[in-house]
Amino acid sequence: MSKEKGISRRHFLQSSALLTAGTMIPTHTLARETGKGKSGFTMWQIPSHRNTIGNSYVFRTRGGKVVVMDGGFPEEEFTLRGFLGALGNEVDAWFISHPHDDHMGALCQILKDVQDLRIRHIYHSRLTDEVTDAEPHEAKKTRAFYKLLDEGTIPVTDIQQAGHTYDFDGMQLKILSTATGLTNNAYNNNSMIMRVWDRRKAIVFLGDAGVECGDLMLRSPYRDDLNCDYLQMAHHGQQGCSEAFYRSFRFRACLWPTPMWVWNNDTGNGYNTGHLKTIETRLWMDRLGIKEHHVSVRDGLFRLD
Ligand SMILES: [Fe+2]
Repeated sequence: MSKEKGISRRHFLQSSALLTAGTMIPTHTLARETGKGKSGFTMWQIPSHRNTIGNSYVFRTRGGKVVVMDGGFPEEEFTLRGFLGALGNEVDAWFISHPHDDHMGALCQILKDVQDLRIRHIYHSRLTDEVTDAEPHEAKKTRAFYKLLDEGTIPVTDIQQAGHTYDFDGMQLKILSTATGLTNNAYNNNSMIMRVWDRRKAIVFLGDAGVECGDLMLRSPYRDDLNCDYLQMAHHGQQGCSEAFYRSFRFRACLWPTPMWVWNNDTGNGYNTGHLKTIETRLWMDRLGIKEHHVSVRDGLFRLD
């Protein structure tokens, strides 16, 4: 979340690689069009237990590897620790879309005292100093996060080039977009966009991408990789990407990392009385004919095999 259209991140909250060359795998075909196959992984959308905007996804591959995307707010550390403990207390890869604390906060807390959780690798797309300082109230937390990464013992990859695909036991994860360098709506517009898929399903994660980040994605050579089955709605489903962006590719279901007050734009005075734009996004999805929605706090833990 960040300042956009006169609404600050704080206001919103208060209302409630350098890479080695990898195998390039064509991913532009919808998974459901490639035929059903054996599931390569299970994904869980983790709901915030505080009815807030934490963005948290956990994956387990058929071989037992665990991958985390973001992880939610600092206050969600213990929920996440418990979930990961039940999966074996070992994370093979942890991807952070961007360093807002509803995405990297829980990981920060864990890195301060990792205890018996084993994290093998962390991936992110580091912001430039200019972008970091574009949101002065976020810069201190972001630098604290980078200090934890720089001074820790866990290997970290700073991904600055899109296109690489990681293979986790048949679960493919492709980086579609890295930090853009944009300084308007800065942190959100520097979200990594990622695609995760196997033979049964494809999921695209937009992080908190804003309009400009979405526009850049549409001009990227990986644009066709946006076609998917499940789409994580940008910026918790409101004031993220444009309607034109969502109309530019195919998907059939929405993942909403979204609390109820955001889902209903209700900060205390009733349905759609707040300053958020969620109802508008919901209308866009209605126009696209999309009927399958998984809203994290409304629906609870969502499991996808
Ligand atoms: Fe966010």
